[in-house]
Amino acid sequence: MILDNYYTASQGNDKVFHLNPPKIKFGRGALRELGFEARALGMSKIALFTDPQIVNLQPVAIARDSLEAQEIDVTIYSDVEVEPTDRSLEAAIDFAQTKIFDGYISVGGGSVIDTTKAANLYVTYPADLLDYVNAPVGKAISVPGPLKPHIACPTTFGTASECTGMAIFDLLKQQLKTGIASMYLRPSLGIVDPESLKTLPSEVVAANGFDVFSHAVESLTCKPFTGRVSPSDPSQRPIYQGANPYSDISCIEAIKLIGSNLVRAVNDREDDSLNDALSFSGVLAGIGFGNAGCHIPHAMSYAVAGLVNDYKPTGWKTNHPLVPHGSSVIVNAPAVFRFTGPACPERHLEAAKAMGADVSETESSNGGQILADQVINMMKETNMPSGISSIGYNTMDIEALTDRTWAQQRLLVNSPLQVEKSDIRELFKMAMSYF
Ligand SMILES: NC(=O)c1ccc[n+]([C@@H]2O[C@H](COP(=O)([O-])OP(=O)(O)OC[C@H]3O[C@@H](n4cnc5c(N)ncnc54)[C@H](O)[C@@H]3O)[C@@H](O)[C@H]2O)c1
Ligand SMILES: [Fe+2]
Repeated sequence: MILDNYYTASQGNDKVFHLNPPKIKFGRGALRELGFEARALGMSKIALFTDPQIVNLQPVAIARDSLEAQEIDVTIYSDVEVEPTDRSLEAAIDFAQTKIFDGYISVGGGSVIDTTKAANLYVTYPADLLDYVNAPVGKAISVPGPLKPHIACPTTFGTASECTGMAIFDLLKQQLKTGIASMYLRPSLGIVDPESLKTLPSEVVAANGFDVFSHAVESLTCKPFTGRVSPSDPSQRPIYQGANPYSDISCIEAIKLIGSNLVRAVNDREDDSLNDALSFSGVLAGIGFGNAGCHIPHAMSYAVAGLVNDYKPTGWKTNHPLVPHGSSVIVNAPAVFRFTGPACPERHLEAAKAMGADVSETESSNGGQILADQVINMMKETNMPSGISSIGYNTMDIEALTDRTWAQQRLLVNSPLQVEKSDIRELFKMAMSYF
């Protein structure tokens, strides 16, 4: 896979990629070392962010005990909204301004970690919420510099927000998901403890697993770093630089772990070794997509999540309708793989094989189709929605979904095939129902 034909640069295109791995401490019991790590980062008075459900679970108790054992002053904020919104981010930022904190700890899923990133950013460099948000939705002003130290302690495994410089939220008025991207947002350290997944419901495991899978496949199949024009200045090279030999390695391993463990983990929440595999797959995919970038399935997911009507998934304790992130991604993925397959069929086939498909009799030109079929089989086995119609959309919604996806140019430019607005429309039609 290393330095394969996918990375043949033409005249004037980039020949350089960067390796910028996140700092991670991994393993059962790692969360008990949080206090030690916080001290090492100079923290003495911290804000600990979590959500109303996780605040009553073991990981918050372990984190608090570990911090207090190091005589670190802890103030807990447990009002993070699941699938955060501009409204819930503003509330978190208001809280973070009530005292002077010298560090931030997040204990929770992607919703909690992303909210903490935003609070840290807007308290350190105050601005209107949309100032740092990606264009064209926001002004995309560059984050001016480093933030206060932040240790992220995930209790889910899909988003790998502990590995990335991204914070995602729902902009309520515009009914779309958007985000902020800057390497300064990346946590100083991620403490990934598989024991934190013990209480994760099957439905959340399934959605997270498909989020991991899609991060890894999108990074593997996105436009190669050599497909971009060489930047005039090194500072202009994008964070999400395209597929490259480094991200390929971690993405393939992540897909293998999902292929061999996800269905069992959804159906058996007692086997702790499966949580080890899931946690590690999330980190591996995070290293990959945090470096290469995602493309069309994630761009479409932000529309699917943003336009939610009255869908309330089982497994999520929430008082407002939401489409879980992993579900909003995977309902698009099979349609997209059939579309992008011809751009790099071998890569789609390799992903299908890593996911567990029998490819011994298959021509590589069918890679996209085989990968789509394998994903659909696993969606059935894990009780995922059968397409966007299962989460409340019909053909009348396609125009609105397409418009909101089109706003995600940051992701669409990574597609291995140039994508037109009419293609997105067709993809949503194909994503209505797979089974
Ligand atoms: N920053 C990034 O790089 C990035 C990448 C992908 C997705 N995201 C964002 O992350 C968010 C989704 O995060 P998520 O999938 O981690 O889920 P989440 O944080 O939204 O949590 C999902 C549900 O599981 C519960 N939960 C979490 N941990 C639990 C545990 N150990 N036991 C029992 N219940 C638990 C939560 O209370 C919630 O009800 C979305 O907003 C998505 O857009 C961010
Ligand atoms: Fe994701």
